[in-house]
Amino acid sequence: MRRKLVIGNWKMNGSRAANAELLSGIVSGLKDVNDRADCAVCVPAPYLAQCQQELNATPVAWGGQDLSIHASGAYTGEVAASMLVDFGASYVLVGHSERRAYHGETSELVAQKAVVALAAGLIPVICVGETLADREAGNTEAVICAQLQAALEAIPADRLAQVVLAYEPVWAIGTGKTATPQMAQQAHHFLRGCVAQKSADVADKMRILYGGSMKPDNAGELLAQADIDGGLIGGAALKAADFLAIIHA
Ligand code: 13P
Repeated sequence: MRRKLVIGNWKMNGSRAANAELLSGIVSGLKDVNDRADCAVCVPAPYLAQCQQELNATPVAWGGQDLSIHASGAYTGEVAASMLVDFGASYVLVGHSERRAYHGETSELVAQKAVVALAAGLIPVICVGETLADREAGNTEAVICAQLQAALEAIPADRLAQVVLAYEPVWAIGTGKTATPQMAQQAHHFLRGCVAQKSADVADKMRILYGGSMKPDNAGELLAQADIDGGLIGGAALKAADFLAIIHA
């Protein structure tokens, strides 16, 4: 039985004051669910220190939204895996569709980032997802398979078990359009099958999160699907009550 995992992706949102209120709201509302689900927030890098301060010794983990493939040096603006670890991060998102779209990240680069994260002891959350054009052309499976394949090839078999996958259809992100539970389940089942080609055992244990307009009112039905092991939440992660409602679902 896979434990559910709910991750809030704050994207480029937050302020010290707003974060303090949001984090304390989450922590105080969480008390009774931690034996059934894991929970984390992935925050802009400047707020990692605040997470470390406010979430230490709570059931809420934290992480980054991206990392560099380099260890250190002349890479202005980038954040190294060791820096995330330095601030107590457990998770890091890699290959979010916004990174792929606005920063030209290829699946090969995303795979390298996952390898670097794993080597530093971080759990990479590898994000894949098709655009509306991909879906309408009937290419959903081919696209998400290709995005995942690069990572499956790059990650050593003994490390694959630490990976979390996230299926985020691009057309559902921030649009209020959610994949139906059946559509999401189909994609998740397909992705698990891709992982199974490398290791059936790992595929069985791997947590695959759904992301894309997951809200309190649709989370229950999505999370009830056999292959949906949690959520990667954008907008609804910015309100403690909504994020908690999804975790409770
Ligand atoms: P929304 O929940 O705002 O659609 O964002 C999803 C997402 O991109 C999480 O990474």
